[in-house]
Amino acid sequence: MSETVTVAVTGAAGNVCQSLLFRLAAGEPFGPDASIRLQLIEKSESMKALEGLAMELEDCALPLLESVSLHDDPVSGFKDVDFAILTGAKPRTPSMDRMQQLQENPSIFVEQGRALGKVAKETVKTLVVGNPANTNALIAWANARYLPHHQFSALMRLDHNRALGFLARKIGINPLRIKRLTIWGNHASTLFPDASHLRIDGQPIRMALDMNWYRDIMIDQVQQRGAAVISCKGKTSSSSAAQAIIDHLRDWRFGTEEGDFVSMGVLSQGEYGVTPGLFFSYPVTCRKGRAEVVEGLDLDDFCRRMVRVTEEELVRERKAIENLLPMSPELLLARAHSEVA
Ligand code: LMR
Repeated sequence: MSETVTVAVTGAAGNVCQSLLFRLAAGEPFGPDASIRLQLIEKSESMKALEGLAMELEDCALPLLESVSLHDDPVSGFKDVDFAILTGAKPRTPSMDRMQQLQENPSIFVEQGRALGKVAKETVKTLVVGNPANTNALIAWANARYLPHHQFSALMRLDHNRALGFLARKIGINPLRIKRLTIWGNHASTLFPDASHLRIDGQPIRMALDMNWYRDIMIDQVQQRGAAVISCKGKTSSSSAAQAIIDHLRDWRFGTEEGDFVSMGVLSQGEYGVTPGLFFSYPVTCRKGRAEVVEGLDLDDFCRRMVRVTEEELVRERKAIENLLPMSPELLLARAHSEVA
């Protein structure tokens, strides 16, 4: 084994982790040459359930799983970690929207950001999953002193994969053949799945795609997919979220496929005219452990309008949580600019 990857997961006894932990422990995102140390974090009242899950992990006798430790506070749980996956947050119920989650969840991310800044490795990569994920990523990074913004991202891959799935089923092809999809903006019902740069087997897709179906049906279905799952299952997506986390981490670590890009929520610096200082989903490529926004794509008027709507929602979210940021958005941006590349 050439290296050990230490991974902290918050909300470790929650819905998404029921499948995520086993896939992390099997080494899916980090490959066969890395052994895994899991540091699982939960609220005190969920520790018993977490113990049961840890027993199950042990009972799989997974060759890459070096150790599992359980923590009821982020300061011990994030100690020396290479990756932190923040799934812990109160899930929404069928009647809730994202703005309502803003009242409950973001304060947890202040504490977690502070703990990451104090005890995690200085190279730690943090993936925020708990909703509202984009704004929680902003809060976590802002409160994590000394950790650069490019080591934080918000999960958009669930929406990306959902959109790929819809397109592949509609066209009747394997999703692997579809490249250059983008989800823009917020992981919320304003997100914009952009099909204008798609390629199938390297060729532009627009002619093959029924644009009426795309505009009138697919966009809305992707935007509402999380809610649709909740209304059928009575709880939020779990295995598809785990798959998205694995895909996100694998690409972040090993790089995106040549000629393709994926969607990640990263700190906006004004790309495509978006307000700087939001964790905004962009088309990105990953190289050497770092996500870079793909610039220079042409956006027509329709795309620009859709991007504006989701951007405005994120600006409203940031306004609503400004009291959880240790400095003004302007100073945070100055901090981002001064961070060592
Ligand atoms: C999803 O998109 O399925 C999750 O973020 C859960 C939710 O609240 O929609």
